[in-house]
Amino acid sequence: MNTKKLAAERAVEAIEEDMTVGLGTGSTAYFAIEKLGERVSGGLKIRAVATSKRSEEQALGLGIPIVPFAEVGIIDITIDGADEVDRHLQLIKGGGGALLREKIVAARSAKMFVIVGEDKLVETLGAFPLPVEIVPFAHEWTLDALKALQLNPELRLADDGTLYVTDNGNYIADCRAVAIEDPADLHEKLNAIPGVVENGLFVDLAHTVIVGREDGSIDTLTR
Ligand code: A5P
Repeated sequence: MNTKKLAAERAVEAIEEDMTVGLGTGSTAYFAIEKLGERVSGGLKIRAVATSKRSEEQALGLGIPIVPFAEVGIIDITIDGADEVDRHLQLIKGGGGALLREKIVAARSAKMFVIVGEDKLVETLGAFPLPVEIVPFAHEWTLDALKALQLNPELRLADDGTLYVTDNGNYIADCRAVAIEDPADLHEKLNAIPGVVENGLFVDLAHTVIVGREDGSIDTLTR
């Protein structure tokens, strides 16, 4: 069962005529964008903003109109994946490296719909490495500050072995083996470090989590 596709296609049902839609990034958001493309081909009129170059290209290829951020006030619905979801609907995101743009878009959205397969549900966040986006300048010092918080940071590498660089020209430190008991507290501590641009904890941003299950059922969790 493709649990990602199941959740993604259900989320797209919530999109209505004339909405402004935020497009997420990743393998689950991919299915949502495909489905939205079908609905747009069928006559649905919406406009969208994207959280990555990848998603923007996919959307444009499907005829989904992408509008400049300056033309958008509030986004009606953003649909995006997540790497982990806890029972309070707090998230880790950024496995695909787009966390900064994803958080900017989520924060500007009236509703954020998170789409996941059931394997992403966890009791406590942190088994998935927490991505932290850091500026290249003096990044060694920023890593020291993350180490001081016992976060075991490791710079992410690209497939060719060079340092991974985000759409914003920054690095990602993946913080491993951390059980995150208080996501809001860690979020504050991380973003207070000079050199940290943003971190992958999405605290109180998800309004609805749509979970695709292996048995073909779908659960909708709402805050
Ligand atoms: C992208 O930066 C991420 O936040 C993704 O939304 C997250 O990693 C989920 O990705 P998948 O849908 O590919 O599992």
